[in-house]
Amino acid sequence: MAKQNMRYITLPSGDDVPVFGQGTWFMGERDSDIQREIQTLQHGIDRGLTLIDTAEMYADGGAEKVVGAAIKGRRDEVFLVSKVLPSNASARGTITACENSLRRLGTEYIDLYLLHWRGHIPLEETVNAMEDLVEQGKIGQWGVSNFDVDDLNELMTVVDNEQVATNQVLYNLSRRGIEYDLLPWCRSNSMPVMAYSPIEQARLLKHPALIEVAKRHNATAAQIALAWVLRDHNIITIPKASNIEHMVENIDSLAIKLQHEDYVTLDATFPPPSRKTALEML
Ligand SMILES: NC(=O)c1ccc[n+]([C@@H]2O[C@H](COP(=O)([O-])OP(=O)(O)OC[C@H]3O[C@@H](n4cnc5c(N)ncnc54)[C@H](OP(=O)(O)O)[C@@H]3O)[C@@H](O)[C@H]2O)c1
Repeated sequence: MAKQNMRYITLPSGDDVPVFGQGTWFMGERDSDIQREIQTLQHGIDRGLTLIDTAEMYADGGAEKVVGAAIKGRRDEVFLVSKVLPSNASARGTITACENSLRRLGTEYIDLYLLHWRGHIPLEETVNAMEDLVEQGKIGQWGVSNFDVDDLNELMTVVDNEQVATNQVLYNLSRRGIEYDLLPWCRSNSMPVMAYSPIEQARLLKHPALIEVAKRHNATAAQIALAWVLRDHNIITIPKASNIEHMVENIDSLAIKLQHEDYVTLDATFPPPSRKTALEML
C-alpha cells in the first residue's frame, strides 16, 4: 500500500528519495523504549519509508545508535541523513563528528550530511570539510538545515546551488512563514526542502479545523496535516513515530488527496503569510 502510493523526489545529485521519511528526535533517550523504536523504524523501512533522518545531537548520539540497530543487515535499503552540530562544524571538527556518527550508525557512509543550523564557524570552512567528506566517501552529499533566505544567499557566494542537496526547515500548517520567500527561493534554485515537525510534535492534532477536514476524508488529523505538507511537490517530510500504530496511521496519509474546499477551510484557520517573517526553528 505505502510503496504503491509513495512518491519520490530527485535530489540535485540525481538520487531519488521518498518524499515521506522517518524522523528520530527523542529516540534513544530511554533504554526501555529502544526496542520499540527499532521495530517501528524497521516497520517503516518495510513500508517504503527508507529515508531516515537523525543527528549527532539527538540523545547525544543515542538516536544514531537506534538507527544503526534498525538498519543492521539492510544498509543498502536506506537513505541515511545525519547532522553535524554547528559547534563541531570546523575543518577538523566536521570530520571527527562524521566519523563518530558513522561508528554509532554502524555504516561506512552517510548518504546526506547536514549542518544542523548556522553557528559561528565561517560557512566556507564547513563547506570545505563537507566536500572533503564527499571525496573520502564518508558522505554521499551534504546540505543545510534551518537556513533562512539570507543564509542561503550567503551560501551561494561559496558554492553552486546544485552542491546543496536540501535545506531542512520547520514547516507545518501552523508554521507557514516560509511560503512567503524561502519555499519560492528553494524552488527557483532547484533545492528540495525537507519539512521537519510536520505535525508540530503532535500539538496540531486537536485543532478543530484539522478535525473537520479529517472527518470529510474519514481520516485523522495527523493524516490531514501530513497530506497538506506533501501537497507541495518540492517537499520531503520526516514525521517521527516511535510506535507502529502512529507509523501505520501516518503512512496512510499518502493516499489522501485534499480538495479545494479543504484548502479553503485550512487557509481560514492557518492563513498563508502576507509578509516576510524570520525563519522559525524548534
Ligand atoms: N533540523 C532540525 O533542526 C530539526 C528540528 C526538529 C525535528 N527535526 C527532525 O524532524 C523529525 C520530525 O519532527 P519532530 O519529531 O520534531 O515532530 P513531529 O514529527 O511533528 O511529531 C512527532 C511527535 O508526534 C507524535 N506522533 C506521530 N504520529 C502521530 C499520530 N499519528 N498521532 C498522534 N501523535 C503522533 C510522536 O509520538 P510517538 O513518538 O509516540 O509516535 C511524536 O511525539 C524529528 O524527529 C527530527 O528527525 C529536525
